[in-house]
This record gives sequence, structure tokens and C-alpha cells, in this order.
Amino acid sequence: MIIGILKEIKNHENRVALIPEKAKLLLRQNHQILIEKNAGVGAGYSDENYLSVGCKIINDPKFIFFNSELVLKVKEPLESEYKFLNSKSILFTYLHLAANKKLTAALLSKNTLAIAYESVSTDKRNFPLLQPMSEIAGKLAPQIAANFLEKQNGGLGILIGGTEKIPPLNIAIIGGGTVGYNAAKISNGLGGNVFVFDIDESKLQKIREDQNNIITIFSSNKNLTKHLPKMDIIINGIYIPGATAPKILTKEIQAKLKQNCFIIDVAIDQGGSVENLSPTSHDDPVVSLKNNIFGYAVPNMPGIVPQTATKALNEATFPYIEYIANKGIQYALKNNIEIFNGVNIYKNNITSEAVAKSLGMPYKSLSDII
Ligand SMILES: NC(=O)c1ccc[n+]([C@@H]2O[C@H](COP(=O)([O-])OP(=O)(O)OC[C@H]3O[C@@H](n4cnc5c(N)ncnc54)[C@H](O)[C@@H]3O)[C@@H](O)[C@H]2O)c1
Repeated sequence: MIIGILKEIKNHENRVALIPEKAKLLLRQNHQILIEKNAGVGAGYSDENYLSVGCKIINDPKFIFFNSELVLKVKEPLESEYKFLNSKSILFTYLHLAANKKLTAALLSKNTLAIAYESVSTDKRNFPLLQPMSEIAGKLAPQIAANFLEKQNGGLGILIGGTEKIPPLNIAIIGGGTVGYNAAKISNGLGGNVFVFDIDESKLQKIREDQNNIITIFSSNKNLTKHLPKMDIIINGIYIPGATAPKILTKEIQAKLKQNCFIIDVAIDQGGSVENLSPTSHDDPVVSLKNNIFGYAVPNMPGIVPQTATKALNEATFPYIEYIANKGIQYALKNNIEIFNGVNIYKNNITSEAVAKSLGMPYKSLSDII
């Protein structure tokens, strides 16, 4: 199979979809790899590293899109890339379509077979390609909050952990899945008073068992309204598979929050849970919201730790890339439930029920069209 790797163009996105070590394994199995010039540089891989294992370096993203059977990316195609989408190359990347009607329309109109990393799953409950990036974003969130609070970064000059005599900050984590679990662990390590909210008691139990000083609370509007006004930092890691995130942090709740409360909406890639907070970028990550509170809403947080994130991503995606390359897409769709569940768009149809529902667009089951 001819496999194309694009250079990411999203703001501060330095990850690359395939590292030379994994490219070598595919080349050994007689596949061909076209990689865009400088695609790996931000993650620490030069063009020479790719050339030395047998990849072809291509200067033109259009050529890669139109001459590859499988196109690998990290982030969703941006508007300037829509013109390259086509019906011949399969697109395998993070898509997060529930919050992106424009991209959904572009993929439908170009008749692209689009497989979303975040949808690959055996049971639609566990997401092996979302998990490593969520782990990274969860670990980054408290670190980002700590930096934001430092004086030289324009912050108030507050230490999360306080001191023996000065109380630590209160940190709420909404959603105790992969993002939440990891954010809780790091927040706890930084010495914060940590509160985790989830609707799934098994997630809360796991957190309590691992770190018994973390307080866990059932996530209801009543409980959030009661506890969030005490928080200095709020990290949102809610996920409802495939769907847009619920707007839990309503304007009413925001009006009750502490002055200078800092909200990190990790779930912004699925639309986010903070009313009136739109995606921001690494260049300008924090916006001031009403009532003197602040919001951080960067949809590609792992992009700032590209070496770790690229390796973690490749470890997760490679078995699926290899499977599609070796078996072909039709075989993969019929025999690999994880890849089957990953398909969001096929033959001008939305094949993810959650995406279709979130966008108010028609859904068609993939089994009816393959
Ligand atoms: N911004 C970024 O760079 C970035 C990076 C990685 C992941 N993410 C996003 O972070 C989000 C979380 O991912 P994850 O892998 O941790 O998901 P996950 O499925 O592991 O965890 C989500 C948790 O949310 C809980 N939940 C659902 N509804 C809730 C509610 N009303 N209140 C409280 N909890 C609720 C679920 O029970 C689950 O425990 C996803 O949208 C993911 O795409 C963003």
C-alpha cells in the first residue's frame, strides 16, 4: 500500500503520525511511504532519518493526498487542506467531528473514507487511540495551571501546594476518566486539595483506591453548583463517546465561581463544557471570561510535548496502520471491529451515530453499506 504522512499545520502542532522506526517496519513489508518534507522535525526526526529507512520525501501535500491509498495525520484537516480530500485515499487521524460540521461536510462532499483515531474501539467504551493523548493532556493540565499562576507569566503569583502554614489551592476535576485520573494524580502530587466529579462510580472508586486523600463526588448539577464556587482551578475531562460535550459550566455556575478561577477545558476538542468558551491556541491559550474568571481551551495540548506524544501515539496507532496496510481496507472493515467502529464517514454517509446526532445530520450504519 502507498502510505502518505502529512506535516501538521495546526498551531504549535509538532507531532508526526509515523516515526522512522515504525516506517521501517512497514517498508520491510513492501509498503511505500511518502512523507512531507520536514514532517517529523518538530518531534525530533529529520528528513534524513526517514530517507535512511527508505521513505520518499515529498514537498507537496497535494501530491501526497492524491497519490496515497492511506493518509496518516495527527490532527483533523484544517480548512486549507479540505481541497486535498478525495475519494481514493483513506484518511486516518483524530477528527472530533461532533464539534466540526464544516469538516464533516467537506469529508462527505469529497466522498472520503474517514477513520477517526478517537473512535477506534472494540466496545465503544474504551478508546485505545484516545487514551495515550488523554493521559498526556491530563498530566499537562495541572502543569499548565501552575505555570499560569506564576507571577512572571502574568499570574497572581500563587503556589498550588501552598506551604505548611499557607493552605493549598482547591482543584476540581470534572470527569474521572483518563484525562481526569491523570490530572488528579498530578494535582495531588503538586499538593493541591483535589476533588473529582464523575457520573460513573467505578471511576471515582478507582481514584479513591489509588489516592485516598482525593475527594470524589457524584457529578450532578446540584453538587457542582455547591462545590465549584470553592475552587481555584477547574479541569474538565468529560467525554461522552463521539458526542459533543455537555455544557456543564453554565453561565449561572460561572457567575458563582471564585474571582480568578482558572478553567482548563480539556474536552474542548468535543466542543467543551464551558458556555461561551471557544477553542484557543498555544499562541494565545488563555482568555478572560465574564466575572473575572479565566479559560484555557487548546484542542491540541499534547502538541507542546511532541517527542513524548509522537512516540505514545505511534505505539497506539501502529498495529491498526499495519493491519489496514497488510489486509486492505475492505478486509479490515469486515474483520476488525475496532477499525469498523473507527469509521466516521463512508461513501457520503456519517457512520458514527453519536457524530450524526450531535450535528443533527442523518446517520447510516456502516454494516448496511460495506
Ligand atoms: N484538548 C486536548 O488536547 C485533548 C487531548 C486529549 C484528550 N482530549 C479530550 O478530553 C476528553 C476526555 O477524554 P478521556 O480520554 O479522559 O475520556 P474518558 O472516556 O476516559 O473519560 C471521560 C469521563 O467523563 C465522565 N463523564 C461523562 N459525563 C459526565 C458528567 N456529566 N459529569 C462528570 N463526568 C462525566 C465519564 O464517566 C468518564 O469517566 C475527550 O473529549 C478527549 O477528546 C483533549
